Amino acid sequence: MSEHHYLGPQGIIAKKKKYIMPCLAHFYRNPRQIVKGSMQYLYDSEGQRYLDCYAGVSVMNCGHCNPEITQKVTEQVTTLQHVCNIYLTENFVNLAEKLAEVTPGDLQKSFFCSTGSEATEGALLLAEIYTGNSEIIALRQGLHGRTKLGMSITGLQMWRTDPNPVGGIHFAPNPYCYRCPLNKKPDTCDLACANAIEDLIKTATSGHPGAFIAEPIQANAGCVVPPKGYFNRVQEICHHYGTLLITDEVQTGFGRTGKMFAIENWGVTPDIMAMAKALGNGAPISAFIAPAKIADTYTRPGASTLGGNPVSSTAGLAVLDYIEEHHLMENAYARGKQLRAGLRELARKHPIIGDVRGLGLMDGAEFVHADGSPAPEELDNVLEALLDRGFIVGKNGAARNVLAFQPPLIITEENINEVLNALDDVLTAQKL
Ligand SMILES: Cc1ncc(COP(=O)(O)O)c(C=O)c1O
Repeated sequence: MSEHHYLGPQGIIAKKKKYIMPCLAHFYRNPRQIVKGSMQYLYDSEGQRYLDCYAGVSVMNCGHCNPEITQKVTEQVTTLQHVCNIYLTENFVNLAEKLAEVTPGDLQKSFFCSTGSEATEGALLLAEIYTGNSEIIALRQGLHGRTKLGMSITGLQMWRTDPNPVGGIHFAPNPYCYRCPLNKKPDTCDLACANAIEDLIKTATSGHPGAFIAEPIQANAGCVVPPKGYFNRVQEICHHYGTLLITDEVQTGFGRTGKMFAIENWGVTPDIMAMAKALGNGAPISAFIAPAKIADTYTRPGASTLGGNPVSSTAGLAVLDYIEEHHLMENAYARGKQLRAGLRELARKHPIIGDVRGLGLMDGAEFVHADGSPAPEELDNVLEALLDRGFIVGKNGAARNVLAFQPPLIITEENINEVLNALDDVLTAQKL
């Protein structure tokens, strides 16, 4: 590796400053140039190895440069790359058939695009076509995209750059039990946050909003897992008012939570589901899927040049095969349990960890001061020290104070112990 001449972190930062729009920030005070990936490991330009516990933000569920997937993608790249779906190729219909199989309930017909933003926007367009109503309810602290509408339905100020968002969007309080926006306690709240959606519909809308959209687990909000029964109640309310329930599985999908899709943890089937990231394991592919009854109302022309491209569809098919054949859902469930148990043990020893939450391998540890206020600087120091020790761990949260574990789902028991031990050492060294 050392013979290769790399730009190096400083060289990249210099070019970034000159040629990339400044909105794009990078993690770490002392960032590394990542040059190679192999399953759960990444390597930098100096040859240091890292255990990747963030998977490129929930993308590399099957691991970096997974040989089985790479082989199928490479074969497709050398056979046929692109003709656009105005011509017939077979991979995208095979992938759509497979998605109908692995998604819950009667979700059946897909539309393929390339990014999560397009998938959520597309899902909202379909809801508007089907219901004839463009009013939307979203959740505070949700994140759904970077495009005009995607940003407008995003409930995190940090990502709402546009001062003139689309109208007709209302935000309900999010199901964040650790810091309940309604100041309730989980055992006595009677799902007040879900009930607030009904209040919103009755007061702030025409009475029949077209869509309610939410992430099953709010990722950027800081791995906010809703209480049991939340989505069931939300679905009841949506059905009552003729509002379609759209789940954004962009971060939670494809085995991450121990189920193929996170919403399945609560036995709920959405009316439309948006997905992206891990579907391609690094190849740009996204989709939204709906039952035939809803999907069949989308009859006016709609196409995406690269949507369902032969190469990205091959990647999607290879990913779904790999998840099933290698039991990644089972591993996500078991390793997630191990990780959260370990984090809870660390929380007893290190008061900086105020809350541990998650499902499968979508887990967060919220860093707080003694008074419960967010501790983002302490978190940054810990992340930096973990990097030096060879561990890449993510961060999210409205206050950027949640340590985020979203590793490749092939991560081993030993790996989890390694990262827990490293975290313990760092927290002890930093007297947290
Ligand atoms: C839940 C969720 N939805 C949508 C998006 C937008 O996806 P993309 O960046 O691929 O447009 C993201 C991005 O991180 C996300 O986390």
